[in-house]
Amino acid sequence: MERLVINGKRPLSGEIKIHGAKNAALPILCACILCDEKVILHNCPKLSDIDNTIEILRYLGCKVSRDEDTVEISNSDCLKDNIPRDLMNKMRSSIIFLGPLIAKLGKANLCLPGGCELGPRPIDIHLKSFEKLNIDVFEHRGSIDCKTDKIKGTSINLPFPSVGATENIMLATVLGNTKTLIHNAAREPEIIELQNFLNKCGADISGAGENCIIINAVKKLHGCEHSILPDRIEASTYMSFAAATGSSLTIKNICNEHIEPVVFAFREAGCDMNFKENELTICAPKRLKRIMHIKTLVYPGFPTDSGMPIIAMSCIAEGTTIFEETIFQNRYNATAELNKMGANIKIYDRIAVIEGVKSFYGADVEATDLRGGAALVCAGLAAQGTTNITQLQHIDRGYENIEHNLSLLGADIKREKN
Ligand code: EPZ
Repeated sequence: MERLVINGKRPLSGEIKIHGAKNAALPILCACILCDEKVILHNCPKLSDIDNTIEILRYLGCKVSRDEDTVEISNSDCLKDNIPRDLMNKMRSSIIFLGPLIAKLGKANLCLPGGCELGPRPIDIHLKSFEKLNIDVFEHRGSIDCKTDKIKGTSINLPFPSVGATENIMLATVLGNTKTLIHNAAREPEIIELQNFLNKCGADISGAGENCIIINAVKKLHGCEHSILPDRIEASTYMSFAAATGSSLTIKNICNEHIEPVVFAFREAGCDMNFKENELTICAPKRLKRIMHIKTLVYPGFPTDSGMPIIAMSCIAEGTTIFEETIFQNRYNATAELNKMGANIKIYDRIAVIEGVKSFYGADVEATDLRGGAALVCAGLAAQGTTNITQLQHIDRGYENIEHNLSLLGADIKREKN
């Protein structure tokens, strides 16, 4: 088993280039099964979730090659209409294959994606939306059978602006001769990115990023060459690393607008931030001030995925921070591990009360989920002494080469095999 060994309390310095966004690359890779010609994706991060998605594309019959951060996908004329359980269970976002498979083949058979460490991850909004599109959905013994003679355009009102459901509906309705409207659609930047990618391939979609997305289906989608937008969550994570270690860091290859929702928190914590084009220099104080209250919301609110690393940095701030999670049921898995490192976090259902302590101290801890793992790295970088983090598969899902990047910034961190 691998572990990260971090000797903390070393300031970071220098600059970090942010990678392409995992949560943009995943739905775009699923969309490639709709394209009749080759797709070339640049700035595609090297992450296990991406590898798993490529494995599913190959299983379905696509030809996929990868050279560093460029991935080439050529569709096949005879796609399989099912994805086996072992491939589906590796990650939740494999459910986004459902829409494009139904659009392409008129049927699909997948197993229900597992819940995850964040709690139950239902897909009722996806499936109810498909039924409105004249897709028959049969759920039995943990698998989903979908089929349709013809997808019918309609107006869908999402009960919650689900990112995955919005993406699945876009991919189910982009081909054909229908018109579909998605009201109360998710507005995340990754939704706009999916619209931009599909339109580059010949689709006719508008409204992404606003309340209503309009999909005028087209006969076919050709290929394209596309560069994935920067990962706003990776960027906010490195901002937390800088804040927790009293460092100055330059974070390059960002989309400034997408960082906006977290800026207030770092400013309130006493960090200076200087934005240039696609670049941010963050300078943290020796000791952070507490952030009064953070409440996670759908975009453009404070993103849930930025939460845990900001909770970690708040553990050593002066004063008490109140953090309110409104998106996921179990966002706080990692707080027990942070408390092992000397933090003082109390959880009351969706509310975390973080009472600032002087310092973390190194301990042996386990990553529980992707962003919780990033929070433990943040705490380890700031801790007095040595921290050993295991269960790195969680961290490797969303952060490319984290120990290499942090070493280049001056951290004393290495990956060791137990
Ligand atoms: C996407 O997950 C992201 N994943 C998540 O990032 C992110 O936290 C989330 O959006 C919110 O921004 C990918 O893009 C691959 P949702 P998704 O559907 O699509 C409930 C990370 O760390 N819900 O907007 O699953 C659901 O239970 C990951 O990179 C239903 O009830 O998010 C949750 O409470 C974690 N029924 C809430 O909505 C449904 O049918 C948000 O879910 C669908 C969702």
